[in-house]
Amino acid sequence: MASHLAAEALASDERETRRVEENWHLRGGIEVNVRSVESRDAPRLVRFFQDLSSQSRYLRFLSHLPGLSTEVLDGLIKADGQDHLGLVVLTRREGAIVADARLAKVTPGKAEFALVVADGWQAKGIGRRLLAKIIEVARSSGYATLQADYLSENRRMIGLMRDARFQFHRLPGDGPVGHACLDLHWDRVPDAIAMRTQAVTNSVLGRADQSGSTR
Ligand SMILES: CC(C)(COP(=O)(O)OP(=O)(O)OC[C@H]1O[C@@H](n2cnc3c(N)ncnc32)[C@H](O)[C@@H]1OP(=O)(O)O)[C@@H](O)C(=O)NCCC(=O)NCCS
Repeated sequence: MASHLAAEALASDERETRRVEENWHLRGGIEVNVRSVESRDAPRLVRFFQDLSSQSRYLRFLSHLPGLSTEVLDGLIKADGQDHLGLVVLTRREGAIVADARLAKVTPGKAEFALVVADGWQAKGIGRRLLAKIIEVARSSGYATLQADYLSENRRMIGLMRDARFQFHRLPGDGPVGHACLDLHWDRVPDAIAMRTQAVTNSVLGRADQSGSTR
């Protein structure tokens, strides 16, 4: 995972650049800004990753890294918004990065993600919302499958993915790294049912189809 998510910023002529810009209200009334990574984020992104505890870095990169190499940091900064999307969560006042999420194309139709929240900002609901945002962006980008590798000891991340209806593929002998997968088409079925129900209702009421969905 780290190789895809950290070192590659792949070009694509099919996928339009995705930009995210939102404000979130966290538990306790804290407000944060969530947006796509920009080149001007380089110094604070470096600081964010360097300030992570060794445990959070281990869980994020699936191995014990004393620090992040220049190559890995370069890859994280150069997210192109097409095949490699980077999302950062920043404090409203200082503009410090407190979380980072990545969505990277693996093969056509398949993307993988990873995310990490600063140690002092964990357990405030950022991870859950970031994962929901990543799923939303992956789906609207046309991916059919979203996947992630994770360490089997990472109960918190496993819980988040389970809640989001990921399937887990881990066999005895696989070692500490598990593989989770979300079928984005399957997950879209309830939306499709809702749209159909709306269309039927509209036709019964004599209205034009107002679903307006391009998905
Ligand atoms: C896993 C991680 C991303 C979760 O982010 P987070 O912002 O702390 O998570 P949330 O606050 O959204 O909490 C999600 C759930 O985790 C559990 N949780 C979070 N913090 C907890 C804590 N301190 N104690 C017990 N449970 C906790 C809760 O069940 C919570 O569910 P809830 O929303 O019903 O309360 C974050 O802990 C992290 O960055 N870990 C290190 C890097 C990592 O593991 N990355 C994943 C690699 S794929």
